[in-house]
Amino acid sequence: MLHTDSIKKIYAGYSNVYDAIFKQFFYPRQKHVINSMGIMPGNRVLDVGVGTGLSLPLYPRYCKVTGVDLSVEMLEKARKKINKYRFHHISLREMDASNLEFDDNTFDHVIATFVISVVPDPVKVISEMKRVCKKAGKIVIVNHFQSDNKFIAKIEEYINPICCKIGWRSDLSLDDLIRNANLEIDQEYKLKKFDLWKVVFAANNKPC
Ligand SMILES: C[S@@+](CC[C@H](N)C(=O)[O-])C[C@H]1O[C@@H](n2cnc3c(N)ncnc32)[C@H](O)[C@@H]1O
Repeated sequence: MLHTDSIKKIYAGYSNVYDAIFKQFFYPRQKHVINSMGIMPGNRVLDVGVGTGLSLPLYPRYCKVTGVDLSVEMLEKARKKINKYRFHHISLREMDASNLEFDDNTFDHVIATFVISVVPDPVKVISEMKRVCKKAGKIVIVNHFQSDNKFIAKIEEYINPICCKIGWRSDLSLDDLIRNANLEIDQEYKLKKFDLWKVVFAANNKPC
């Protein structure tokens, strides 16, 4: 099981080496989704679990981006990027994604890359993402989900306790998430046939 305190500790530990380890895997996928989101001038974007801000250089300067994260140390790395590149269109807040401190219907796009299997309660996080997203807005998720292949799924269940110790779970089922979080999927696909991560675009189908 993942717990907020252990997540904070684990990601504080990753913060200095995160970009060196994960950028090669995560950045191309972030680039693909952010380029595909159809961000319009003046749009407000929420990047949930923004981490070290790997995704931040990918947002057009004509939109307004807010990044939130639980980890002060990860946010500090993101802040350095903002200062270095003078990203005046981006702001950061320390915040728990399962309790977002924003009004309902604030953002045009809400994105979470490589976060949903890190949080203790993914369904709550998605309900918060929907709440703060405008009714006609879009929800974007990039994540590893449990394989459809029964043999690989069993291995993912078996290694899950080890994965949790290093900062994410390996057994999150997209089908369960869709059902439990009432996600209305527009598109779900992998960038490569055997990719570990899935791209999910969802409509914001929250009740009026
Ligand atoms: C694997 S990193 C992904 C970071 C970034 N989205 C990326 O694509 O590089 C997961 C991030 O989620 C953050 N996180 C975990 N639980 C969170 C929560 N409940 N609220 C906000 N951020 C959280 C962690 O601190 C960490 O920065």
